[in-house]
Amino acid sequence: LLKLPSSLALPALETNLGFAILAFVAVVHLIPALGENFIKAGLKGRDMLKTYDDPIPECQGLICAAVYITLLTLFIPFPFSSFFARDRDTSLAGLAKGDFPHQQLATYLSALLSFLAATMLGLLDDLFDIRWRYKLPIPIIASIPLLMVYYAEQGLTTVVLPIPLRPFFGTIVQLGPLYYVYMSLLSTFCTNAINILAGINGVEVGQALIISLSVALNDLLYLPWPYTLRVGSKVLGGEWGAGLAFGSKELVERHLLSLYFMLPLIGVCAGLMFHNWYPARAFPGDTLCYFTGMAIAAAGILGHFSKTLLLFFIPQIFNFLLSCPQLFLIVPCPRHRLPKLNKDTMLLNTSEADLSNEPPSSLRDLVLQLLAFLRLTRLTTDLKTGRITACTNLTILNVLLYWFGPMSEEDLVVRVMLTQCAGSALAFVVRYGVAGLIYDG
Ligand code: UD1
Ligand code: MG
Repeated sequence: LLKLPSSLALPALETNLGFAILAFVAVVHLIPALGENFIKAGLKGRDMLKTYDDPIPECQGLICAAVYITLLTLFIPFPFSSFFARDRDTSLAGLAKGDFPHQQLATYLSALLSFLAATMLGLLDDLFDIRWRYKLPIPIIASIPLLMVYYAEQGLTTVVLPIPLRPFFGTIVQLGPLYYVYMSLLSTFCTNAINILAGINGVEVGQALIISLSVALNDLLYLPWPYTLRVGSKVLGGEWGAGLAFGSKELVERHLLSLYFMLPLIGVCAGLMFHNWYPARAFPGDTLCYFTGMAIAAAGILGHFSKTLLLFFIPQIFNFLLSCPQLFLIVPCPRHRLPKLNKDTMLLNTSEADLSNEPPSSLRDLVLQLLAFLRLTRLTTDLKTGRITACTNLTILNVLLYWFGPMSEEDLVVRVMLTQCAGSALAFVVRYGVAGLIYDG
């Protein structure tokens, strides 16, 4: 029999951190070992921004997802081990077992179920290139287990309004079912938003890595950290953490749960980043975008911080809003919108959508003129007829190339990563700085 002390029996957080390191090591080793098998199975792609044609193993996110889900499954007993120890003590003392936290177990299992669903969707997309209209609703269905658990936990469906809006709408607005619609849309947004900010080496997995690091950092702020303070001859001690500051043990538990999901995610993303960084030896595929997006959305929903979570997606929100005219086919959307390689200079240039054969549309012209005015796209106009014949593709990558001029693929990915870090820094300022000015208490 395991000899467990009856207090916190196994150090769950330390184990989780160990699993994160294991995840990194496993992914770093498995990708080169399994790459050939993926190529043989037809899961390969050509790097469109290189001059060579070597097949690169695609869908390597599947390895990350397999490692991640296996480790999270192995991890299940750890957060509950204090109950094993207590149950052993109570049965030794002849007492009845009781109050096992079934709710917490259900929460954890619902998240695993949605990760599996997202992985399956990503794999199907990598295999069959699913159309947008089918792709969009699937993460909504995959999020139902998460929403059910949120409901069972009597999760809040209210929004506290900022002070300036209160004279019009009151202090608290009850959104009820609309809040569930919002959360299910959040899961479909997180999964697809990472997938459409793509096309250069390292960008998909890099953004997932920075977002998961930001979420983990936010979680750490809520954990009870022991401190000792020396004031003159007195030594003060105790625990510090936003969770405790708000006086809620539940808040600490939710952020701990989110951290259990984020640390191994950071591990697998860092492992893939090692092989996907310029020049890429592995492609993440849609599997990575979907399962990382779902893992991050699950952390936000089950951790009850879905609004803060959105702040870490500022570049993705910008990229999604900018992409809308192409996603909803107001402006034609080529199969690939990634930048174009100039083989003479080996620098990336903006890529364009060809409008010369499109029927005239005043809505399209209006949208494009507005975006051009905001310097978010560059238009090519026929001098004779005055018609718009081309526009740069509506992605953040093309905007960066338009603003800063042609650059190498590595420079561009570094700029996108810096933008993502700046977005996270802004998110923390908004959440913990500005929020205090427009909210009270
Ligand atoms: C999304 C984007 C598409 C972009 C593509 C690139 C939208 C609506 N869709 O489509 O514009 O071109 O991602 O991933 O915005 N590839 C590279 N270098 C990389 C990564 C990918 O050349 O660093 C190429 C490879 O040929 C790879 C293919 O992109 O095989 C993967 O594309 P896929 O993920 O299937 O495209 P989508 O997600 O459908
Ligand atoms: Mg993709």
